[in-house]
Amino acid sequence: MIQNNSPKLLKDSFNRVARKLRISVTDKCNMKCIYCMPNGNVKWFDNKEILNFQEIVRITSIFAQLGITKVRITGGEPLLRPSLENLIRDLTKIQNIKTISMTTNGILLEDKINQLKSAGLNALNISLDTFREERFRTLNGISNLNKVLNGIQKASELGFKIKINTVIIRDWNDDEIINFVKFARDTKLSIRFIEFMPLDGSGIWNYNLVVTKQEIIKKIKSDFHNVISFDEHNNSSSFQSDPATVYNFDDGKGKIGFISSITEPFCSNCDRVRLTSDGRFLTCLFEKEGYDLKKMIRNAKTDQEIMDYILSSHTKKPEGIVELIRINGLRPTLNLMHTIGG
Ligand code: 5AD
Ligand code: SF4
Repeated sequence: MIQNNSPKLLKDSFNRVARKLRISVTDKCNMKCIYCMPNGNVKWFDNKEILNFQEIVRITSIFAQLGITKVRITGGEPLLRPSLENLIRDLTKIQNIKTISMTTNGILLEDKINQLKSAGLNALNISLDTFREERFRTLNGISNLNKVLNGIQKASELGFKIKINTVIIRDWNDDEIINFVKFARDTKLSIRFIEFMPLDGSGIWNYNLVVTKQEIIKKIKSDFHNVISFDEHNNSSSFQSDPATVYNFDDGKGKIGFISSITEPFCSNCDRVRLTSDGRFLTCLFEKEGYDLKKMIRNAKTDQEIMDYILSSHTKKPEGIVELIRINGLRPTLNLMHTIGG
């Protein structure tokens, strides 16, 4: 443990302070979502390239000493990592880490949910882009939508905080927006519509495929006309660092969030950093290479040396997608989502 009398924070040159760490525990996935995975055979990281649990815990403890309080486990699909519950249990013991959540595609959730609960996992973001089995196969590349739905139900019964992540892509699933809203209202789960970002391995991204927050709001308003009003003033900006803006209905049933990364980038409030499964520190989703922490760990560097490296790398955190939009316009496949975690 490093003696740290005057704690240093991860503050970047735009005055943003990182509080959340997203840890990708594997680049492997048991799905093939068109907004994420490359076509054809995917080359996964070699097993020896992947951080082991001990290495992840050590790096997380260093981040925790730099002001990180929340951890999210991501992938690929994190539940493909054997004995993940052991990692979660160890992460809960790190001082300063207050919550541990996970983003999952839900396929294995039903089988693993009890272990996750007893290991101390607090919250789940579960991906769901369609309610139609056939479409699930084309959009997410696998059959068994029912496994995901059962996983959601079981997690909900066990009292997990749950958010459903939905990526709407024009002409693929935009005809299901209202079904998602009804689902949110019936189940009382939060749905978050995420704008399609140019992070897809298949390279299909173009601006026309992005169904924007404003379009979705318009659609919801017209469909629920006179039944309930969609209250724009109930925006939960009190969750300042949550990238989603959340809307409620007048009757209090259902919560709809929007992650409008394309039309309303939230980079100026960004409080998150990432650790890839092969041990690179990414200060931004759109950063290409990142900083190799695995090399430091495997070359017997001390915690202090690693901490200094993290601090100095973080000061170079780029402004974010806003800068890309301003300078280049967006291009497809800026980074592969399954290698960096959502
Ligand atoms: N655009 C927007 N969201 C994406 N995700 C993955 N790829 C993309 C993309 N290109 C999100 C999905 C999934 C999470 C892991 O990341 O919502 O739930
Ligand atoms: Fe797998 Fe998640 Fe990527 Fe879909 S979005 S292919 S579930 S890593």
